[in-house]
Amino acid sequence: MGDRQQIEEFEKTIRILRKKLARSEKDRKQIESDVAAKEALLKTVIHKLKTSKTTLEQRTQDLQDALDTMQLMQVQLVQSAKMSVLGQTTAGIAHEINNPIGFIYSNLDHLDEYIQDLFKLIHLYHHYLPSPPTQFYVDSEDIDIELIEEDIPQILQSMNRGTQRIRDIVLALRNFSRLHEAGYKAVDIHKSIDNILMLLQQKLSGIEVVKNYGELPLLHCSAGDLNQALINILNNAINAIAIKNGQTEGQLSDPSVITITTQYQSNQQVVVNFKDNGTGISPEIIDKVFDPFFTTQEIGQGIGLGLTIARQIIVDQHGGHIDIQSELGRGTEFLIRLSSQC
Ligand SMILES: Nc1ncnc2c1ncn2[C@@H]1O[C@H](COP(=O)(O)OP(=O)(O)OP(=O)(O)O)[C@@H](O)[C@H]1O
Ligand SMILES: [Mg+2]
Repeated sequence: MGDRQQIEEFEKTIRILRKKLARSEKDRKQIESDVAAKEALLKTVIHKLKTSKTTLEQRTQDLQDALDTMQLMQVQLVQSAKMSVLGQTTAGIAHEINNPIGFIYSNLDHLDEYIQDLFKLIHLYHHYLPSPPTQFYVDSEDIDIELIEEDIPQILQSMNRGTQRIRDIVLALRNFSRLHEAGYKAVDIHKSIDNILMLLQQKLSGIEVVKNYGELPLLHCSAGDLNQALINILNNAINAIAIKNGQTEGQLSDPSVITITTQYQSNQQVVVNFKDNGTGISPEIIDKVFDPFFTTQEIGQGIGLGLTIARQIIVDQHGGHIDIQSELGRGTEFLIRLSSQC
């Protein structure tokens, strides 16, 4: 091959290579633009995914909120149903007991008077007719008149005490149900607590109740509801003491005590503190005790609404605070703060 021919061959190869280069450059640009388009598409998809994730999170939050509201509404419904049934029942029972016990109570004084007159009469007979016929001794042989005369005042006294106690309980029941004075009113919180203690007296046997009452103003609040909150807290204290006593049965343990302290603070806050030396609450569950349906009691014993209701009444309804401190094995303290202006 001559030089010229070789040059021509080279030039031809160069031309072919140039063409190939131009084509691959075009391909590269096409690929680049394809990649850019795909990248943009991917970005849009990622953005859309992010947006829908946020929407989904928002929806989940909304659903959670709706669930919480529904649970609270359920609690409110159960509470109002419980309260109205309890209120009607206690008011009804109180009314039914009040009348018959009134008859007994008001007749006891007359009975006492008549019995004394009868004895006076017997003594007079004895004095003026000292030697009755022999048959009198035969017929009255089984009657120990001295014993009867000695016993009757004591019998009457215990009947008096018993009826007085029933009257107190009936009064406490009426005050507790407060059906006739529903709604907000000025309440003497010490009277409310004393009423509740009277109602719970049976369950409080064996428990010393120490009252450290301070000077308190009347509280403007819904008396019936506040009673419900306080009774729930006291009931829990009694339960915790009963459980602890069950666990430590036979062992030497501290006497059971519930201490109720009230105080009026300079910031116009009324503080009511219930302290018990029952089981206490373990740190793992203390955050849950106000949750609806949380209970450590056995099935059928408790439904886990007592504290949910108490918090709802004190915090949501009356704008107050309720705090809890507890030490496992030593006891629990509930601190309630209410504004006297609430
Ligand atoms: N004073 C207390 N001492 C120890 N544990 C307590 C006390 N108060 C509440 N608790 C714990 O908190 C839980 C929830 O109390 P809550 O009053 O709401 O429900 P409950 O007493 O179990 O049932 P109920 O609906 O009958 O009141 C109790 O089961 C108990 O474990
Ligand atoms: Mg309870």
